[in-house]
Amino acid sequence: MKKSVLKLLLSFFIFNCYLTIDSLHAQTKSTTLSTENKVTEKVLQDILDQNKQFATQGKVADYIPELGKMSADAIAFSVVDTNGKVFSVGDTNKKFTMQSISKIIALMVAVQENGEEAVFKNMGYFGSDKPFNHFGNLEITGKPLNPMMNAGAILTVSMIQGEDDIAFQKVLNMVRFITKNNNINYNEAVYLSEKETGHRNRGMFYIMKNSGLIMGEENQLDNYFKQCSIEVTAEDLAKIGYFFANECVRFDGDATYKNADVSKLIQSQMLVAGMYEFSGEYARRIGLPSKSGVGGGITVSVPGKMGIGVFSAPLDGHGNSVAGYQMILDFSKRFHLNIFQP
Ligand code: DON
Repeated sequence: MKKSVLKLLLSFFIFNCYLTIDSLHAQTKSTTLSTENKVTEKVLQDILDQNKQFATQGKVADYIPELGKMSADAIAFSVVDTNGKVFSVGDTNKKFTMQSISKIIALMVAVQENGEEAVFKNMGYFGSDKPFNHFGNLEITGKPLNPMMNAGAILTVSMIQGEDDIAFQKVLNMVRFITKNNNINYNEAVYLSEKETGHRNRGMFYIMKNSGLIMGEENQLDNYFKQCSIEVTAEDLAKIGYFFANECVRFDGDATYKNADVSKLIQSQMLVAGMYEFSGEYARRIGLPSKSGVGGGITVSVPGKMGIGVFSAPLDGHGNSVAGYQMILDFSKRFHLNIFQP
């Protein structure tokens, strides 16, 4: 054999050895990483234990009297991992009202029925820099700032078609579908308490009726109060987070509502307005589309991957669960989930 051919064969052999060693190295590395990065109940329990004391720094919402009855000590943490597997720790059976988290479901139903263009004709995509019940924008531009603040959410549910409480029933049924939990219902006492004391929301409703944005009657406002009163667990919230993270495909793979555009819309609204006036800082610190409710729940979508659901009733000054926020922060750091710093 010629010397040059031998040389060529030898260098080819050496190159192949490098490739094999390199791929072996990569394989070992990825095995180590995947073991380290596995979601387990133990990981969740550790995070819950380390953060439950933060609940003492918050205050249970009582501006709706019935909400003030929630236990300050109950705490739960759930995750639906990338494969749709559910992990839950803490007070897993504890039910609480969705409150503002219902706004993402109502937005989905309204967009499904009317199309995104029609829904956003009279409402902005803006981020929130004001509390959830602020409605200054209605006065200045004549339109709600976004569908995550109360004014925009009241307008959103009014766009879902149907007499009486049909719009609410559609939102409830969508929550039941996403969570695969037909036992979910609304809490009548919380609903009545919201209806009785929600004068500010009633004010927004009538301002929008006055300007022609809302055509219907007060049953449409009742639908908003009812959707806020839907009771869920942290696990239900994790399933909702997973659904929007994964193009509206359910945790068990059911793709009935698969829609990449809708999930992109909902997650972008969660990111810029889901945590109210804290949304910008939250995006900086946690970097995940999230939606909170004054009932103490937060649902989080890890785009293309997981869903997280937390519950702890005591809230910070913005209306976000204090211990819930801390659990999400620790979990996202532990698994490098921040979309701006993976
Ligand atoms: O409109 C209200 O006052 C409540 N039913 C919902 C507000 C809410 O959850 C705001 N969240 N953080």
